[in-house]
Amino acid sequence: MKLTPRKFSEPTPYNPSGNLQVNDVSKPLIWDMNRYINGRSLLKRHRQGTTIKAFTDLKRHNLCDEDYKHFCNEQITQGSLLGFASAEDFTVPGVPRPTEDFLTRKLWDVANSDPYGHRGDLTTITEGVYQHGGEAHQVRDEFFDLPQEDKDKIVEFLKTLGVF
Ligand code: HEM
Repeated sequence: MKLTPRKFSEPTPYNPSGNLQVNDVSKPLIWDMNRYINGRSLLKRHRQGTTIKAFTDLKRHNLCDEDYKHFCNEQITQGSLLGFASAEDFTVPGVPRPTEDFLTRKLWDVANSDPYGHRGDLTTITEGVYQHGGEAHQVRDEFFDLPQEDKDKIVEFLKTLGVF
């Protein structure tokens, strides 16, 4: 995911009303996402901005089916506006979604963001993958059909994706 510019600020010019605005502060907090930490930059810099390996498609998917029901029993509608700002104040107004639709988690910090799942009730990365039914059922099966060594390699790779 390419981001331009590479400086993140808070408040941002895009904050909806009812939230802190740029004019409310004498100086916004500005964070250079390519800041060098211990001699290395965490993200890849490009001409105007920065590239984040987010490991997500930023889309919603239904991971629920007859075989894997872990993600089937949610009660709260996703995507509703539960705050105080009115819908017109948002750049993209929220649209209520079916209860089984979840935004694909970014895996950029999966090494140190356990426990997993939106309820935080999955302990390991393998357990997280195990519960992928619905739209991810086939990919889930392909993972578990791999020889143990290949499964281990994928999990070891995911364990390198940490934000420390
Ligand atoms: C083998 C390939 C895949 C791996 C290794 C994988 C891994 C993971 C892991 C570890 C999580 C939990 C992350 C966390 O809670 O912090 C997760 C969540 C999720 N994944 Fe996957 N995934 C894979 C394929 C897919 C596919 C193909 C889809 C969609 C079609 C998908 C959709 C999702 C969604 C929607 C969540 C969020 C669930 C929630 O909010 O509880 N994943 N994935």
